[in-house]
Amino acid sequence: MRPWGVDSESMRFTAYEPWCGVDWGGHAATINRMTPATSAHATPLDELSQGLLAMLHEADPEVERILAAEADRQATTLELIASENHVSAAVMHAVGSWMTNKYAEGYPGKRYYGGCQFHDQVEDLARERAKKLFGCKFANVQPHCGANANIAAFMALLNPGERVLSLPIKSGGHLSHGLKPNFSGTFYDIVEYGLDPKTELLDYDVIEKIALETKPRLIICGYSAYSRVIDFARFRAIADKVGAFLMADIAHIAGLVATGVHPSPFPHAHVVTTTTHKTLRGPRGGLILSNDEEIATKLDRKVFPGSQGGPLMHVIAGKAVAFGEALQPSFKTYSQQVVANAKALAAAMQAHGYRLCTGGTDNHLMLVDLRPRDPNLTGADAEKWLEAAGIIVNKNGIPNDPRPPMVTSGLRLGTPALTTRGLKEAEMKQVAAWLDRVMVGKGDAVVTAAVREEIRDFCGRFPLPH
Ligand SMILES: Cc1ncc(COP(=O)(O)O)c(C=O)c1O
Repeated sequence: MRPWGVDSESMRFTAYEPWCGVDWGGHAATINRMTPATSAHATPLDELSQGLLAMLHEADPEVERILAAEADRQATTLELIASENHVSAAVMHAVGSWMTNKYAEGYPGKRYYGGCQFHDQVEDLARERAKKLFGCKFANVQPHCGANANIAAFMALLNPGERVLSLPIKSGGHLSHGLKPNFSGTFYDIVEYGLDPKTELLDYDVIEKIALETKPRLIICGYSAYSRVIDFARFRAIADKVGAFLMADIAHIAGLVATGVHPSPFPHAHVVTTTTHKTLRGPRGGLILSNDEEIATKLDRKVFPGSQGGPLMHVIAGKAVAFGEALQPSFKTYSQQVVANAKALAAAMQAHGYRLCTGGTDNHLMLVDLRPRDPNLTGADAEKWLEAAGIIVNKNGIPNDPRPPMVTSGLRLGTPALTTRGLKEAEMKQVAAWLDRVMVGKGDAVVTAAVREEIRDFCGRFPLPH
């Protein structure tokens, strides 16, 4: 029995057409052969996904079972992890394409292998679209992930041992900004700025004071768990005062930046790094941008051969498709809805008695302090109970959290994935009500099972794009 079957043809066709623009009528017979009805809650898959599972059913049923279960998990749960999203069918299947077969070390027009004609074309296309999207002159689309983009940026801007000023992970920064066991904390001299203990906001005057005292060579802004607007111009003014480079890591907010929903780090940052898979809704990967030719040349050298070998050309094809999607007007509407949904979810959580760090959100995420609702509630327990009920979140330390990182007093919630599914402000109230019910129920089996069923039904109304 396959968990990816569908229970009615009408459900399948109405769900697909807006996403794929495909006339499914002609394929009905094939699809029906491949997707026996199994469960009243099963969600439809796009035609290529069904073909993939049918192929794996013959070639490797063990993998088929796992992939089908994951497709079903994604379809029937609510994804509130702020760093995740659901890519379009076009992005997902571009990543599963012929481009995976090729070595293309080097850059377009300067490869170390023959046969790269179409790899040059797709990488050029991805670079051009990235530049257009972010309004800058240079783009490197080869970093395998956000952390790799940061490795190359550090190597291009710094000598080993030079000083970096950044926000530590415990306050919402990323491990690649200076955590001791990471390359950044191992090979560079890290000094930290924090958040204002009262407001939990960046305090630019204090950051400037620390910069003047410590004279870093690089200042990093851009975070993993900060829900407010970043003042890139102010950061650049601070960097200029001490002769430092400014790097903006917009991994989380890239989609909002690309659509003007969050101010751009250009022209302020010397280097901008990002992931492509969060609010930007592309395949898992990294991207580096700049406006300075000399820095851009160094960045290219530090990606390859500095820190990576052969680029993942299939992922670069997916990046090209995703950047093309992000250039469409509909992506701006999507990004605006991501923020509107985050504000609605934040307000609804507050109405249930939770405290939001900084008092709310301006972007796609929020940090929820659980203690005002229940002093004994931990992020770890909440994450576990919510997963059992079909709501996927991550525990997250709140600023000055007295609990250790594997326990925490908070949750980080984000709306990019739910917004992709088509949820709007009204549904955010419902999501907050489920979150609260499960956490107040403290893992009670009856409550959890009831919410799980409600969410399964609800998800059927908001099908995934693939
Ligand atoms: C601010 C920031 N930078 C970099 C990264 C690293 O991205 P990746 O996991 O793709 O290496 C993340 C990931 O969460 C992030 O939040």
